[in-house]
Amino acid sequence: MSGLDPAARDALIAAAKAAEGNAYAPYSRFHVGAALLFDDGAVVTGANVENASYGLSLCAETVAMAAAAAAGRRGGLVAVAVTGGAIDTSEAERPTISPCGRCRQVLNEFATLGGTDPVVLCAGAGEVVEIRLSALLPMAFGPASFGTLGG
Ligand code: THU
Repeated sequence: MSGLDPAARDALIAAAKAAEGNAYAPYSRFHVGAALLFDDGAVVTGANVENASYGLSLCAETVAMAAAAAAGRRGGLVAVAVTGGAIDTSEAERPTISPCGRCRQVLNEFATLGGTDPVVLCAGAGEVVEIRLSALLPMAFGPASFGTLGG
């Protein structure tokens, strides 16, 4: 269980969906939105930002996490919602999206700093899979691997 009440869960997924509207994804035509919920109630969103040099593209979760970090946040990450799909497919055809490996690592950095294990809400057509970040990224390499929680 997420520990989030249904209204908070739905609101976070709605925030991720809204963020999809800002995706810049002319190459994949796959729009992704991410919403991060912090323990003070703040929600920080992101969308994928692609590049003509494809490998430089940034995922929605990484964009959201970087925005939160750049605003001074370090810990307190309690939940993440991710939504998305190809722009020419209907809601009913949407796959269930989960964060890519790189994004799991990026999320882990700041979750670890705050000592949280955020629930990740992976939304797709008619379903939401809830899974802890630690289950998505077991035995993670992170700040503790340096013998310190960083600064
Ligand atoms: N993408 C994300 O933004 N988040 C994910 O978790 C998976 C993939 C983006 C990257 C690329 O812009 C597009 O989706 C297709 O892979």
